[in-house]
Amino acid sequence: MLVLDARSIRRLFSMEEAIDSNREAFVIQSQGGADVPVRISFNLTGTDVTSFMPAFIEGFPQAGVKIVSTFPGNTAKGIPAVSATLLLTDPVTGEVSVLMDGTELTRLRTGAVSGLATKLFANENVEAGALFGTGGQAHSQLEAMLTARHFKEIRVFDLDPSRVEAFISRTCDISEKFDVSLVKADSSDAAVDGADVITTVTTSANPVFDGRRVKEGAHINAVGGFLPHKRELDEYIVNRADRIFIDNMEAVMAEAGEFLIPMAEGRFSRESITGEIGDVLLGKTRGRTSPDEITLMKTVGFATLDVVIGYKIFKKALAEGVGITI
Ligand SMILES: NC(=O)c1ccc[n+]([C@@H]2O[C@H](COP(=O)([O-])OP(=O)(O)OC[C@H]3O[C@@H](n4cnc5c(N)ncnc54)[C@H](O)[C@@H]3O)[C@@H](O)[C@H]2O)c1
Repeated sequence: MLVLDARSIRRLFSMEEAIDSNREAFVIQSQGGADVPVRISFNLTGTDVTSFMPAFIEGFPQAGVKIVSTFPGNTAKGIPAVSATLLLTDPVTGEVSVLMDGTELTRLRTGAVSGLATKLFANENVEAGALFGTGGQAHSQLEAMLTARHFKEIRVFDLDPSRVEAFISRTCDISEKFDVSLVKADSSDAAVDGADVITTVTTSANPVFDGRRVKEGAHINAVGGFLPHKRELDEYIVNRADRIFIDNMEAVMAEAGEFLIPMAEGRFSRESITGEIGDVLLGKTRGRTSPDEITLMKTVGFATLDVVIGYKIFKKALAEGVGITI
């Protein structure tokens, strides 16, 4: 069995490659080529959740499972709030062939979901972006936004202002590479006013910005929420958005409070969801149809993304002799 750590994963795989991997995974998913049950989540304490996410992909000789825990209290202990491990099995023997750091893999593939959505749905000419949340996922979300479009500035907002300052200073590698200025937003309104692309990646249970302030033509990536009783977006913006794209209908209908909460109150309908990202890639659904539209992408994550990217990283590691065999 090969063991791959976080550093090896990032050395082997770039954000661009992760975006391409997701492109493939979304198409497989929308064509029905993946056997991927909705994850099993054990809600351990009300806030701490451990999930088991298996998938088998036809044509990829590989089955896999990611074990991922979201423990928000970890942040105060200096360890990631979201930690994960991915296992893939050998198609001939059924034995586990690789164990890899799923924490880094999750950051990479989740950033790449927003990166792909931004490439597909945001207007070409953008100036300002807004990033909500500065935790473990935020670095790769920022990298993905900047990989997809050229921004002049990204406003960064977090409920804890000291975390914004720390984030901006530790991401100077990215701001220099992409020639963008990272600006601390003093309020949610200041972040969102005039922003062309808005990415939310927080642990918030409640909407993180006022949807009425979103400008025409903006694109939103809603990434943080994955529980039916939690939402990062308010009811106004999910109803105002002209086109809504999701990563996986079955998973979103089980997990995304952004839609499930207003649906339960009769104030949002599933028919308002335009389609899956994979449907757009397959040409079954159109993406943005005019520069004035507000587009919205909601992702909760699903195991096809993990197994596809995990398999590609594994193959590259074998080809380049990276990793430790145990
Ligand atoms: N969609 C997916 O596939 C996917 C994948 C991985 C993680 N996630 C989710 O993304 C979320 C963020 O993960 P993380 O590892 O970065 O968490 P984290 O705990 O490291 O960071 C979360 C940050 O959000 C901030 N925050 C909370 N409420 C806020 C608000 N109202 N406005 C602005 N900032 C706020 C916190 O202060 C913190 O800095 C989690 O809920 C996680 O489950 C989703």
